Amino acid sequence: MPGADSPYDVVVWGATGFTGRLTAEHLAAAAGPDLEWTIAGRTPAKLEALREDLADVDPALAEMEYITGDATDRESLDAIADQTDVVCAAVGPYADYGTPMVEACLDAGTDYCDLTGELQWMRETVESYHERATDEGVRIVHACGFDSVPSDLGTLLVQTHAMETFGAPCSTVRANVSLDGGGFSGGTATSMVGLYEALEDDPALARALDDPHALVPEGHPDGSAAVRGSLPQYDHEAGTWTAPFFMAEVNEKVVHRSNALRGYPYGRSFAYHESMATGGGPIGAALAGAVTGGLALVDQVMSVDPLRQRLDRYVLPDPGEGPSRQAIEDGGFEVRLRGTGAAAEGGDVFTVEGRISSDQDAYGTSGVLVGEAARCLANGDVDSPLDGGVLTPASGIGMPLVERLREAGLTITVDDR
Ligand SMILES: NC(=O)c1ccc[n+]([C@@H]2O[C@H](COP(=O)([O-])OP(=O)(O)OC[C@H]3O[C@@H](n4cnc5c(N)ncnc54)[C@H](OP(=O)(O)O)[C@@H]3O)[C@@H](O)[C@H]2O)c1
Repeated sequence: MPGADSPYDVVVWGATGFTGRLTAEHLAAAAGPDLEWTIAGRTPAKLEALREDLADVDPALAEMEYITGDATDRESLDAIADQTDVVCAAVGPYADYGTPMVEACLDAGTDYCDLTGELQWMRETVESYHERATDEGVRIVHACGFDSVPSDLGTLLVQTHAMETFGAPCSTVRANVSLDGGGFSGGTATSMVGLYEALEDDPALARALDDPHALVPEGHPDGSAAVRGSLPQYDHEAGTWTAPFFMAEVNEKVVHRSNALRGYPYGRSFAYHESMATGGGPIGAALAGAVTGGLALVDQVMSVDPLRQRLDRYVLPDPGEGPSRQAIEDGGFEVRLRGTGAAAEGGDVFTVEGRISSDQDAYGTSGVLVGEAARCLANGDVDSPLDGGVLTPASGIGMPLVERLREAGLTITVDDR
């Protein structure tokens, strides 16, 4: 539980980065005087410039005292973790810079949330720190950005509705992600490059990427199988063509870890399937083909070291860069989750549909998602059977985050038929 003595409720570490800045801007606009929070990072001049910008949003922040903390200087990280109830970490790639802050938070008994979607690093922290974090009641909550909040909380929302309405969970949830606008940041690009480098060094990682239960602690639950497709498909129920979604490999593992850590409320043979929706008709079909082909090509190029290095140097955005403000504001996404199951009484088949949408792109929304996750942790606004551990949004925070996200402007609905 958050301590009462820390001067801050939340410290955003890496606030000078592309997504860290969006997170700080969200807190400046939304948190109000009830939240004691500040920014931290490794470069004082950038922190000062950010503080000036934040003061334009909330003049009270002009006097905000920032904290300096470099991932290579453990003492500086201890100083951050000691001063706050929650560290909201936006320093990435996490596989390069994340571990010392997780350790600092464990030593200080400080809760933690981040934006990681790096499977190789999550496996490492699960293996190294889950037991200790569980024993010591510290919440280390990964994947609180666009990856994997809509997938993970969306599934919890659908399953909670199914259990309340039909007395049984859905045996399958199928999520279709629609993106309006695109683009990615330098931090995401560097993290992606890091994953392909790790794949070269660690053949077991390739097997883990293919295994939807790679983050499930006790091994595979009985009976559930990978349901990820690698080709364009037509989803008759939703009336749309679908292509593989590039973050499905991570999101499905987070969803299954949530189910396992919460004690299998979705059932031990629950299956989760995530795709990208490209629309109906011939245009939807052509788009699904193009997305599928494009992803396969990127995968081929990224798998060859010299090509990957060239792509990184000449094509991909540099750290600190990302989509323009206009692109963030003009963008958006919708995740539609369709769960099916059989009612506890009578066995009638039912369908539950959840929707999560945002009128900002994935980066603008990630700042909101991780900022609200941090606020939930700081306020003890959590509904989970677990007091600590290396957790996911649904297992570390749960439904209170859904409510906060609605208040923050996301559209989140659930219905059945
Ligand atoms: N899952 C999601 O949906 C999602 C969404 C967005 C981002 N992300 C992830 O979040 C991470 C950040 O992405 P981004 O695009 O915001 O990256 P970015 O713009 O490159 O920002 C990186 C941040 O890390 C800081 N940093 C780098 N090395 C450091 C060190 N040794 N010690 C302390 N701070 C250090 C940078 O500080 P300086 O400013 O001083 O250089 C900067 O604040 C990436 O891993 C990305 O994949 C995930």
